[in-house]
Amino acid sequence: MKKIAILASGNGTNAEAIIEHFKNVKSASVALLGSNNTNAYVLQRATDHGIPHFTFEKKELENGSVKALLLIKRIDLIVLAGFLLKMPENIIQAFPDAIVNIHPALLPKFGGKGMYGDRVHQAVKDSGEKVTGISIHWVNEHYDEGKIIFQEKVAIDDSDTPQSIAEKVHQLEHKYYPKVIESLI
Ligand code: GAR
Repeated sequence: MKKIAILASGNGTNAEAIIEHFKNVKSASVALLGSNNTNAYVLQRATDHGIPHFTFEKKELENGSVKALLLIKRIDLIVLAGFLLKMPENIIQAFPDAIVNIHPALLPKFGGKGMYGDRVHQAVKDSGEKVTGISIHWVNEHYDEGKIIFQEKVAIDDSDTPQSIAEKVHQLEHKYYPKVIESLI
């Protein structure tokens, strides 16, 4: 049985979709959820599903404390689901090819530092794109630059707002992210 740890900073709809999916999968389970945001609603979702969870400060990510916990818990795959801090070198080295992220646009477009959540959808809207989507990728030391594992597109038009783009993207995320994670296990 492989163990998944989810790291998330906010609402946690992706985290919840993943937790629910893996309740019905024999080969892996969500063993742990961590957040750098003590007010994140994702913590409530973890509580509701009985998933062990913890919070941490940025410095604990950087000084190796979070890495130590993930190693003690024998985590096999780290899943970032709306996690807004940069993954530090210490975790990337301890978990080679075992950290996966989802980005709410078609990388390499609209990625990089500061590009997360609604900022991405606003940038997509401002650029007049006719298509956006999701990118699931391995995490390396550069924001949004790891090898792409999976992408899916969705059409948008001038009547779309950043909010409606976000809804379309979230639908794709919830549909595909859990299945792609399962395929990696
Ligand atoms: C998701 O759309 C995810 O792709 C995005 O944050 C949102 C979190 O939503 N991640 C990034 O922008 C990372 N650069 P959720 O909290 O409802 O899962």
